[in-house]
Amino acid sequence: MIERPDNRSYKLRGDRQTLAQENAYKRSWSTFGLELEGQINPAQLFPESRSQIMEIGTGMGEGTALIAATFPEIGFIGVEVHKPGVGALLGHIERLELKNLRLMSEDAHIILREHFADKSFDGFHLYFPDPWPKRRHFKRRIVQPEFLELIHSKLKDGGYIHIATDWVPYAEWIEETFAATPLFEGGKIERPEWRPLTKFEGQGIRKGHLVTDLKYFKKN
Ligand SMILES: C[S@@+](CC[C@H](N)C(=O)[O-])C[C@H]1O[C@@H](n2cnc3c(N)ncnc32)[C@H](O)[C@@H]1O
Repeated sequence: MIERPDNRSYKLRGDRQTLAQENAYKRSWSTFGLELEGQINPAQLFPESRSQIMEIGTGMGEGTALIAATFPEIGFIGVEVHKPGVGALLGHIERLELKNLRLMSEDAHIILREHFADKSFDGFHLYFPDPWPKRRHFKRRIVQPEFLELIHSKLKDGGYIHIATDWVPYAEWIEETFAATPLFEGGKIERPEWRPLTKFEGQGIRKGHLVTDLKYFKKN
């Protein structure tokens, strides 16, 4: 039996895909999707790649696909629970003819615990995680001490996690959570020019939200 986290970090939304998403799913999941079976070794999955990165919560996937297109020498595994997002990203993979991006669809906690050995990744990307602004929902924020322990164990030595958020109180929460652990070092960084502006981020900026990028490195 798979143990599900008590406090899901994602919202349960409809899994209804548009026709285009459904068709992309039918055509391409078997090629670019990874089933939840056994252990996955990212270096073997992308034998030509110089490093391997997992993105957690790819959403509708425009940003994920553009980053993978920018860095063909890196192997990416995108994780998203929301099926319409997976279908949309499969469509982007087809259009951009990406060879270096594979997808998984489950809670990232479960995926990491069950399907990857320790020291599997050079980096994690976590872009605009659900901010859970209400105090009673803070426990659902994905950045928690246990999550940092999990990420730390799955990173290779010297690996990193890059986070972006458009919710200032969440950026502060992230800084406090990292400050409270000896496992990582780092903090705010300039927005890297290769991180694409997604529709989601654009909406936040139009509402006046300030975007914070943070990067933390694994301490051994
Ligand atoms: C606010 S959206 C941002 C999506 C995308 N990164 C972007 O910048 O547009 C956060 C996404 O993370 C996904 N998510 C949240 N918790 C997750 C988890 N534990 N495992 C996998 N996906 C998760 C949600 O389903 C949602 O699509």
